[in-house]
Amino acid sequence: MFPTVRMRRMRGNKNLRRLVRETSLSVNDLIMPLFVCSGKEIKKEISSMPGNYHMSIDTLVKECKDIRDLGIPGIILFGIPQAKDAIGSDTWSDEGIIQKAVRALKKDVPGLLIITDICFCEYTSHGHCGVLKNGTVDNDATLKNIAKQAISHAKAGADMVAPSDMMDGRVGVIREALDDGGFQNIPIMAYSAKYASSFYGPFRDAADSTPAEGDRRGYQMDPANGDEAIREAELDMMEGADILMVKPALSYLDIIYRVKTEFSMPVAAYNVSGEFSMVKAAAAKGMIDGEKVMMEMLMSMKRAGADIILTYFAKDVAKVLAKREK
Ligand code: PBG
Repeated sequence: MFPTVRMRRMRGNKNLRRLVRETSLSVNDLIMPLFVCSGKEIKKEISSMPGNYHMSIDTLVKECKDIRDLGIPGIILFGIPQAKDAIGSDTWSDEGIIQKAVRALKKDVPGLLIITDICFCEYTSHGHCGVLKNGTVDNDATLKNIAKQAISHAKAGADMVAPSDMMDGRVGVIREALDDGGFQNIPIMAYSAKYASSFYGPFRDAADSTPAEGDRRGYQMDPANGDEAIREAELDMMEGADILMVKPALSYLDIIYRVKTEFSMPVAAYNVSGEFSMVKAAAAKGMIDGEKVMMEMLMSMKRAGADIILTYFAKDVAKVLAKREK
């Protein structure tokens, strides 16, 4: 073969490289996660997540206009409630933080897709993702509340719901509740393979959702398992999920690849808080080129098979891509 075949030939200049590039990263792929809190004119930086904020609804509206104007298709909203309780009842209240935020966004920022996270950990006093019974999360009692939460978000105007609690059967329960409520056209993005990961550290600071006791290994997946992710994804698909998500992304590229090849469904990758903050911290110390590492990281998720990336880098990426186009 050698020297007839020379792999370097097609790497010789920029235009050749452009022609044979297999994967692309586009602003169309991005969803920006945002944190909303009560109050007015609040924009408080989350110390472990530079450039990310706790925002009151008025500030959130402004931020979302910027995000829309950058061409980013959508956001996913996380709420910081004024008060927590044992069951997380703020999540299905008409006056809950998410419901109020969604109503404001739908009114003031048309043209931006508003996705809501369906979970309880930010809203429960104990920090677990559902109703506690004898020290563990009661699956079926939690399902009832999940349905109430999803319906309430849809009524407020959410364009899509994304259950992240990892209860068994939740996608089916949400689909049925939405359909019964007249929301047949609201899609579900299921956090199908959500691992019990240490990469969520900064998010838990941001959302004040670290479990007071114990951890989430009783419901989130064991990082050692791959086949189990396929079973989770298959169940979610059968229960009516429209998008399958893998979370975290960077240490789980094999899972993204497998879910994509196995089901040919739209696949989302959640580039989680720890993945984001590691890059920011290393870049701030001058150890890496933060922008280049960000682009390479997200490209690897696309290459693995992700169609959609949820990332705190969404605005940064959109800006880099816009600069390149000029
Ligand atoms: C649960 C939820 C979490 C994240 C998204 N939804 C935290 C958890 O499971 O502990 C993590 C996101 C991130 O780390 O960026 N509501």
